[in-house]
Amino acid sequence: MRQVKSQLAPDVACLSCPSCGEQVSAAGPAFRCPQCGDLLEVCYDGWPHARDITAWKNRWRERKISHQPFDRSGVWRFRELLPFLEDLASVVTLSEGNTPLYDLPQCARNAGMDRLAAKHQGMNPTGSFKDTGMTTVVSKALVDGVSWVACASTGNTSASMAAYAARAGLGALVLVPHAKISAAKLSQALEYGALVCQLPTDFDGCLRVLLEVAEAAPIYVVNSVNPYRVEGQKTAAVELLEQMHWEVPDHVIVPGGNLANSSAIGKAFLELRNWGLISRLPKISIIQAEGANPLVRTMRETDGDELIEVQPETRATAIRIGAPASWKKAVRILRESGGCCEQVTEHEIASAKADLGREGIGCEPASAVTLAGLYKLRHCGFVQRHESAVLVLTGHLLKDSEYTLQFHSGQLFPPAERGQIKGSNPPVTAEANARSVLKLLEGHAQEVFRA
Ligand code: F0G
Repeated sequence: MRQVKSQLAPDVACLSCPSCGEQVSAAGPAFRCPQCGDLLEVCYDGWPHARDITAWKNRWRERKISHQPFDRSGVWRFRELLPFLEDLASVVTLSEGNTPLYDLPQCARNAGMDRLAAKHQGMNPTGSFKDTGMTTVVSKALVDGVSWVACASTGNTSASMAAYAARAGLGALVLVPHAKISAAKLSQALEYGALVCQLPTDFDGCLRVLLEVAEAAPIYVVNSVNPYRVEGQKTAAVELLEQMHWEVPDHVIVPGGNLANSSAIGKAFLELRNWGLISRLPKISIIQAEGANPLVRTMRETDGDELIEVQPETRATAIRIGAPASWKKAVRILRESGGCCEQVTEHEIASAKADLGREGIGCEPASAVTLAGLYKLRHCGFVQRHESAVLVLTGHLLKDSEYTLQFHSGQLFPPAERGQIKGSNPPVTAEANARSVLKLLEGHAQEVFRA
């Protein structure tokens, strides 16, 4: 592939600590500041601010119809905002990004809002938002001459990493909690040829073990502690703004697990404001499951000063995390943007997911926390009827079909709780003849027969 060096400036990219300001030229496997231990991030000091904003915007739009894979990527077409690679020949892409922004008129009505939209990051190549960060981190790994990449995961990171590693010809080591991730996600990592290790612990335990392994073996950790993941995940916010004709929404609502996605989206909005592409920030709110709520407790009980770890338990397995690595970055984003941190129950998650489904938008439970959270934020008045809000849906419906089947067939919750859940749509059976099916149809759709 020819070398494409334009608009890239690796000499201005550096790793720095958002807490103490320390700049480092090379990071250890855990990507922590050698001075204070906080997670590092990529900075572009000296990178020219958007001198001609319109030219940048036009360029990003035009790249969509280019034939170059890196132009068609919904991540690399915004490369002026992540200029850390010297050339694009090493880009590993599966045409990630370019995900749809859907209107949700029914959910807006349920929430008592004039309008509501969802940015569906589950429509990425491996079915989750992880692909936007995986293209950047695996490309960086390739440039750095790495031969193995590795992650701990609740499923989506491992599926995504395995796919991008396979494309790049790299080895892939995956650590996942045994029997606690969905079958679909596990099957993806296996199919893409990763070495999949199931450990008798949760995500937090897997990450601890992984970081120890990384001290002893030359593997490159691509979990979201790696700041080059965050750079790719930023682009969801840029693309969202492009889809909204550069009008900043009042609210962006994100699920919270290990808390990198909320941080990435926040970093994007902050940089865009600093670089002059937008003039204000949306309020970025983070929603967690009640049984995996370390950030909610951290905000409520310590005002964001000290992490309160929890023993996580939720059927939204993607966010079953008790000690989120990026909690400090998330606290900073909540503070800077004026967002809210809220928790939702298992019932609320299931019902919200069914509300989205009824509108033709499928997602996995961890994504549905955003709608459940919005209902609560509306109820308490944090979100107003006339304001614009965008839910960030992070994973595809088919990522966890066991959950969906159990919900609709009434097996997700114990019998005593079923009365509290609305929106289930159990399958029915009929005899293999038209009369039997017509009888069923008549019971369900009187209007068909009146017509
Ligand atoms: N939604 C989905 C579908 C996820 O897979 C995850 C995280 C999150 C939300 C939370 O994002 O961690 O950036 O706050 N999944 C990780 C994984 C942990 O291993 O796949 P976060």
